[in-house]
Amino acid sequence: MTTPDELTQEELEHKLAGQFAEFVQLVGGLAHEIKNPLSTIRLNLELLSEDLTDPQTPCERRAAGKVEVVERECTRLQKLLDDFLQFARIRPAELAPHSVNDSLQRVLDFFEPQATASNIELVRYLEADLPRVQIDPESLQAALLNLILNAQQALPDGGQLMVRSRSTPGGVAIDLIDNGIGMDTATLNRAFDPFYSTKSGGSGLGLPTTRKIIEAHGGTLSVQSEPERGTQFTIQLPTPRQITGE
Ligand SMILES: Nc1ncnc2c1ncn2[C@@H]1O[C@H](COP(=O)(O)OP(=O)(O)OP(=O)(O)O)[C@@H](O)[C@H]1O
Ligand SMILES: [Mg+2]
Repeated sequence: MTTPDELTQEELEHKLAGQFAEFVQLVGGLAHEIKNPLSTIRLNLELLSEDLTDPQTPCERRAAGKVEVVERECTRLQKLLDDFLQFARIRPAELAPHSVNDSLQRVLDFFEPQATASNIELVRYLEADLPRVQIDPESLQAALLNLILNAQQALPDGGQLMVRSRSTPGGVAIDLIDNGIGMDTATLNRAFDPFYSTKSGGSGLGLPTTRKIIEAHGGTLSVQSEPERGTQFTIQLPTPRQITGE
Protein backbone atom coordinates (compact mmCIF):
# COMPACT_ATOMS: atom_id res chain seq x y z
CA MET A 1 0.00 0.00 0.00
CA THR A 2 1.21 3.53 -0.75
CA THR A 3 0.05 6.84 0.72
CA PRO A 4 -0.75 9.60 -1.80
CA ASP A 5 2.74 11.10 -1.17
CA GLU A 6 4.57 7.85 -1.79
CA LEU A 7 5.45 6.62 -5.26
CA THR A 8 5.01 3.07 -6.39
CA GLN A 9 8.13 1.27 -7.62
CA GLU A 10 7.01 1.80 -11.20
CA GLU A 11 6.37 5.53 -10.70
CA LEU A 12 9.72 5.91 -8.97
CA GLU A 13 11.55 4.16 -11.83
CA HIS A 14 9.72 6.35 -14.34
CA LYS A 15 10.65 9.48 -12.39
CA LEU A 16 14.30 8.46 -12.09
CA ALA A 17 14.49 7.55 -15.79
CA GLY A 18 13.10 11.01 -16.61
CA GLN A 19 15.60 12.73 -14.33
CA PHE A 20 18.45 10.69 -15.81
CA ALA A 21 17.45 11.56 -19.38
CA GLU A 22 17.27 15.24 -18.39
CA PHE A 23 20.73 15.01 -16.80
CA VAL A 24 22.25 13.34 -19.85
CA GLN A 25 20.74 16.02 -22.06
CA LEU A 26 22.17 18.74 -19.82
CA VAL A 27 25.66 17.26 -19.82
CA GLY A 28 25.45 16.64 -23.57
CA GLY A 29 24.53 20.32 -24.00
CA LEU A 30 27.50 21.32 -21.86
CA ALA A 31 29.83 19.15 -23.97
CA HIS A 32 28.52 20.89 -27.10
CA GLU A 33 29.03 24.31 -25.54
CA ILE A 34 32.64 23.45 -24.73
CA LYS A 35 33.34 22.19 -28.25
CA ASN A 36 32.87 25.54 -29.99
CA PRO A 37 35.31 27.65 -27.94
CA LEU A 38 37.68 24.71 -28.01
CA SER A 39 37.85 24.76 -31.80
CA THR A 40 38.50 28.53 -31.68
CA ILE A 41 41.34 27.89 -29.25
CA ARG A 42 42.75 25.18 -31.54
CA LEU A 43 42.54 27.42 -34.58
CA ASN A 44 44.43 30.19 -32.79
CA LEU A 45 47.01 27.72 -31.54
CA GLU A 46 47.57 26.54 -35.11
CA LEU A 47 48.15 30.13 -36.21
CA LEU A 48 50.50 30.65 -33.27
CA SER A 49 52.49 27.53 -34.10
CA GLU A 50 52.75 28.69 -37.74
CA ASP A 51 54.35 31.88 -36.41
CA LEU A 52 56.76 29.73 -34.44
CA THR A 53 57.73 27.18 -37.12
CA ASP A 54 61.28 28.54 -37.20
CA PRO A 55 62.06 29.64 -33.63
CA GLN A 56 65.19 31.81 -33.47
CA THR A 57 65.60 32.69 -29.81
CA PRO A 58 65.48 30.46 -26.69
CA CYS A 59 62.32 32.32 -25.72
CA GLU A 60 60.66 31.44 -29.06
CA ARG A 61 61.77 27.81 -28.72
CA ARG A 62 60.20 27.61 -25.25
CA ALA A 63 57.02 29.20 -26.59
CA ALA A 64 56.89 26.67 -29.47
CA GLY A 65 57.23 23.82 -26.97
CA LYS A 66 54.41 25.17 -24.83
CA VAL A 67 52.14 25.68 -27.84
CA GLU A 68 52.73 22.03 -28.75
CA VAL A 69 51.73 20.88 -25.24
CA VAL A 70 48.53 22.96 -25.29
CA GLU A 71 47.69 21.69 -28.79
CA ARG A 72 48.07 18.11 -27.61
CA GLU A 73 45.80 18.72 -24.63
CA CYS A 74 43.21 20.40 -26.87
CA THR A 75 43.23 17.35 -29.15
CA ARG A 76 42.70 15.12 -26.13
CA LEU A 77 39.79 17.28 -24.90
CA GLN A 78 38.21 17.28 -28.34
CA LYS A 79 38.37 13.46 -28.52
CA LEU A 80 36.93 13.21 -25.01
CA LEU A 81 34.02 15.46 -25.95
CA ASP A 82 33.37 13.62 -29.24
CA ASP A 83 33.46 10.25 -27.48
CA PHE A 84 31.23 11.55 -24.71
CA LEU A 85 28.67 12.90 -27.16
CA GLN A 86 28.61 9.54 -28.93
CA PHE A 87 28.20 7.79 -25.57
CA ALA A 88 25.41 10.11 -24.42
CA ARG A 89 23.59 10.09 -27.74
CA ILE A 90 20.53 8.09 -26.84
CA ARG A 91 19.47 6.88 -30.23
CA PRO A 92 17.29 3.82 -30.05
CA ALA A 93 18.77 1.19 -32.36
CA GLU A 94 16.86 0.96 -35.65
CA LEU A 95 16.74 -2.79 -35.85
CA ALA A 96 16.05 -4.75 -39.01
CA PRO A 97 17.10 -8.22 -40.17
CA HIS A 98 20.64 -8.09 -41.56
CA SER A 99 23.67 -10.28 -42.07
CA VAL A 100 26.26 -10.01 -39.30
CA ASN A 101 28.94 -11.13 -41.76
CA ASP A 102 28.21 -8.17 -44.07
CA SER A 103 28.83 -5.75 -41.19
CA LEU A 104 31.97 -7.65 -40.19
CA GLN A 105 33.37 -7.69 -43.73
CA ARG A 106 32.74 -4.00 -44.10
CA VAL A 107 34.58 -3.05 -40.89
CA LEU A 108 37.40 -5.54 -41.48
CA ASP A 109 37.94 -4.34 -45.07
CA PHE A 110 38.14 -0.80 -43.69
CA PHE A 111 40.67 -1.85 -41.05
CA GLU A 112 42.79 -4.18 -43.25
CA PRO A 113 45.26 -1.50 -44.53
CA GLN A 114 45.85 -0.28 -40.95
CA ALA A 115 46.35 -3.87 -39.80
CA THR A 116 48.97 -4.47 -42.49
CA ALA A 117 50.74 -1.22 -41.59
CA SER A 118 50.74 -2.21 -37.88
CA ASN A 119 52.02 -5.72 -38.61
CA ILE A 120 48.76 -7.30 -37.45
CA GLU A 121 47.62 -10.50 -39.10
CA LEU A 122 43.87 -10.30 -39.51
CA VAL A 123 42.29 -13.75 -39.53
CA ARG A 124 38.62 -14.07 -40.49
CA TYR A 125 36.51 -17.12 -39.73
CA LEU A 126 33.05 -16.11 -40.82
CA GLU A 127 30.53 -18.94 -40.67
CA ALA A 128 28.51 -19.23 -43.86
CA ASP A 129 24.69 -19.28 -43.76
CA LEU A 130 24.31 -17.57 -40.40
CA PRO A 131 20.74 -16.68 -39.47
CA ARG A 132 19.90 -13.03 -39.97
CA VAL A 133 19.61 -11.08 -36.74
CA GLN A 134 18.07 -7.76 -35.81
CA ILE A 135 20.82 -5.20 -36.38
CA ASP A 136 21.32 -1.48 -36.69
CA PRO A 137 24.32 -1.87 -39.05
CA GLU A 138 25.75 1.61 -38.49
CA SER A 139 25.89 1.34 -34.72
CA LEU A 140 27.00 -2.31 -34.77
CA GLN A 141 29.88 -1.34 -37.06
CA ALA A 142 30.85 1.50 -34.69
CA ALA A 143 30.87 -1.02 -31.82
CA LEU A 144 33.02 -3.48 -33.79
CA LEU A 145 35.46 -0.74 -34.72
CA ASN A 146 35.90 0.23 -31.04
CA LEU A 147 36.84 -3.37 -30.23
CA ILE A 148 39.16 -3.67 -33.24
CA LEU A 149 40.95 -0.42 -32.36
CA ASN A 150 41.40 -1.64 -28.78
CA ALA A 151 42.94 -4.84 -30.16
CA GLN A 152 45.25 -2.82 -32.39
CA GLN A 153 46.34 -0.72 -29.41
CA ALA A 154 46.96 -3.91 -27.42
CA LEU A 155 49.32 -5.09 -30.19
CA PRO A 156 51.93 -2.32 -30.27
CA ASP A 157 54.51 -4.64 -31.88
CA GLY A 158 52.01 -6.43 -34.13
CA GLY A 159 50.50 -9.87 -33.66
CA GLN A 160 47.25 -11.55 -34.54
CA LEU A 161 43.61 -10.53 -34.41
CA MET A 162 41.15 -13.29 -35.11
CA VAL A 163 37.56 -12.37 -35.85
CA ARG A 164 35.02 -15.16 -35.86
CA SER A 165 31.29 -15.33 -36.37
CA ARG A 166 29.29 -18.41 -35.41
CA SER A 167 25.74 -19.46 -34.84
CA THR A 168 24.66 -20.19 -31.28
CA PRO A 169 21.47 -21.81 -29.96
CA GLY A 170 20.08 -18.32 -29.23
CA GLY A 171 21.37 -16.40 -32.21
CA VAL A 172 24.76 -15.32 -33.51
CA ALA A 173 28.05 -14.71 -31.71
CA ILE A 174 31.07 -12.68 -32.77
CA ASP A 175 34.47 -13.30 -31.15
CA LEU A 176 37.38 -10.90 -31.42
CA ILE A 177 40.55 -12.53 -30.14
CA ASP A 178 43.89 -10.76 -29.96
CA ASN A 179 47.21 -12.06 -28.69
CA GLY A 180 48.20 -8.67 -27.31
CA ILE A 181 49.18 -7.29 -23.91
CA GLY A 182 46.01 -8.53 -22.17
CA MET A 183 44.57 -7.14 -18.94
CA ASP A 184 45.33 -7.80 -15.29
CA THR A 185 42.40 -8.36 -12.91
CA ALA A 186 42.28 -4.72 -11.77
CA THR A 187 42.00 -3.46 -15.37
CA LEU A 188 39.54 -6.17 -16.33
CA ASN A 189 37.27 -5.23 -13.42
CA ARG A 190 37.15 -1.61 -14.49
CA ALA A 191 37.43 -1.89 -18.28
CA PHE A 192 33.72 -1.09 -18.83
CA ASP A 193 33.64 1.85 -16.37
CA PRO A 194 33.03 5.14 -18.18
CA PHE A 195 36.24 7.25 -18.33
CA TYR A 196 38.47 4.36 -17.22
CA SER A 197 41.52 4.17 -19.47
CA THR A 198 45.09 2.92 -19.14
CA LYS A 199 46.15 4.85 -22.25
CA SER A 200 47.49 8.37 -22.44
CA GLY A 201 44.92 10.17 -24.57
CA GLY A 202 42.25 7.48 -24.10
CA SER A 203 38.82 8.76 -23.12
CA GLY A 204 37.78 5.44 -21.58
CA LEU A 205 34.42 5.60 -23.34
CA GLY A 206 35.05 3.00 -26.06
CA LEU A 207 33.95 -0.07 -24.13
CA PRO A 208 30.98 1.50 -22.27
CA THR A 209 29.72 2.85 -25.63
CA THR A 210 30.21 -0.54 -27.24
CA ARG A 211 28.36 -2.35 -24.47
CA LYS A 212 25.51 0.18 -24.66
CA ILE A 213 25.17 -0.39 -28.40
CA ILE A 214 25.15 -4.19 -28.04
CA GLU A 215 22.59 -4.02 -25.22
CA ALA A 216 20.38 -1.82 -27.43
CA HIS A 217 20.40 -4.84 -29.78
CA GLY A 218 19.17 -7.06 -26.96
CA GLY A 219 22.62 -8.65 -26.89
CA THR A 220 25.54 -9.03 -24.49
CA LEU A 221 29.24 -8.17 -24.59
CA SER A 222 31.63 -10.23 -22.47
CA VAL A 223 35.38 -10.39 -22.10
CA GLN A 224 38.12 -12.76 -21.02
CA SER A 225 41.71 -11.67 -20.74
CA GLU A 226 45.10 -12.68 -19.45
CA PRO A 227 48.14 -10.42 -19.14
CA GLU A 228 50.79 -11.10 -21.82
CA ARG A 229 48.52 -13.63 -23.54
CA GLY A 230 45.68 -11.66 -24.99
CA THR A 231 42.02 -10.81 -24.86
CA GLN A 232 38.79 -12.20 -26.20
CA PHE A 233 35.63 -10.13 -26.55
CA THR A 234 32.40 -11.94 -27.38
CA ILE A 235 29.27 -10.28 -28.69
CA GLN A 236 26.07 -12.36 -28.50
CA LEU A 237 23.17 -11.20 -30.63
CA PRO A 238 19.80 -12.88 -30.23
CA THR A 239 17.58 -14.03 -33.07
CA PRO A 240 14.29 -12.07 -33.17
CA ARG A 241 12.39 -14.68 -31.12
CA GLN A 242 14.76 -14.10 -28.17
CA ILE A 243 14.39 -10.33 -28.43
CA THR A 244 10.63 -10.31 -28.24
CA GLY A 245 10.60 -13.19 -25.77
CA GLU A 246 7.90 -15.07 -27.70
N1 LIG B 1 41.87 -5.76 -26.44
C1 LIG B 1 42.34 -5.23 -25.30
N2 LIG B 1 43.53 -5.66 -24.78
C2 LIG B 1 44.01 -5.15 -23.63
N3 LIG B 1 43.39 -4.19 -22.92
C3 LIG B 1 42.22 -3.72 -23.38
C4 LIG B 1 41.63 -4.22 -24.58
N4 LIG B 1 40.45 -3.58 -24.77
C5 LIG B 1 40.31 -2.73 -23.72
N5 LIG B 1 41.36 -2.79 -22.90
C6 LIG B 1 41.55 -2.03 -21.64
O1 LIG B 1 40.31 -1.45 -21.27
C7 LIG B 1 40.48 -0.03 -21.12
C8 LIG B 1 39.19 0.67 -21.51
O2 LIG B 1 38.97 0.54 -22.91
P1 LIG B 1 38.11 1.64 -23.67
O3 LIG B 1 38.02 1.25 -25.10
O4 LIG B 1 36.85 1.87 -22.93
O5 LIG B 1 38.96 2.97 -23.50
P2 LIG B 1 40.36 3.34 -24.19
O6 LIG B 1 40.63 2.41 -25.33
O7 LIG B 1 41.38 3.43 -23.12
O8 LIG B 1 40.07 4.79 -24.72
P3 LIG B 1 39.08 5.16 -25.93
O9 LIG B 1 37.96 5.88 -25.28
O10 LIG B 1 39.91 6.00 -26.79
O11 LIG B 1 38.60 3.90 -26.56
C9 LIG B 1 41.69 0.31 -21.97
O12 LIG B 1 42.33 1.50 -21.54
C10 LIG B 1 42.58 -0.92 -21.77
O13 LIG B 1 43.28 -0.86 -20.55
MG1 LIG C 1 39.14 2.04 -26.79
